[in-house]
Amino acid sequence: MIGMEDKNFYMVSAEQIQRLLEEAKQVRLQAYAPYSGYQVGAALLTKSGRIYGGCNIENASYGAAICAERVAVVRAIAAGETDFVAMAVVADSPEPGSPCGICRQFLAEFAPELPLIMANLDGKVRKGSLDEYLPYAFNKDYFRDEEAN
Ligand code: THU
Repeated sequence: MIGMEDKNFYMVSAEQIQRLLEEAKQVRLQAYAPYSGYQVGAALLTKSGRIYGGCNIENASYGAAICAERVAVVRAIAAGETDFVAMAVVADSPEPGSPCGICRQFLAEFAPELPLIMANLDGKVRKGSLDEYLPYAFNKDYFRDEEAN
């Protein structure tokens, strides 16, 4: 069972965590990852209660690949949702799937303390708050120009 004492997890119920993990596992099956063979699923819960799924989508031009986490975020934003509650990430890795640096930065723009639930297909789960995974995140506060904010 998952401990509820974890940072920022007080607002995420055990049921929501289960829903997110299930959705991430399902959407992972849509991954297009013929180059790495590493399929990832992400599920993002927003304040409205909706869950946006994302899978990684690779490209023959390798650098054009997009991670599952960012696909979930762009889907939510495009639907007009910017209040994020929690995200689950699932991969078939020895350790629970972990968001890459670019995705951490991308998420930090909207939810710098987002609760993350990471899991692998063996059921190993790790939880953490995004600010633990990306301390001192670069954000708009670093710009001196007031108008940039
Ligand atoms: N990837 C994700 O989609 N999310 C992660 O958390 C880590 C990496 C993808 C990118 C690429 O398609 C494949 O996994 C291998 O790096």
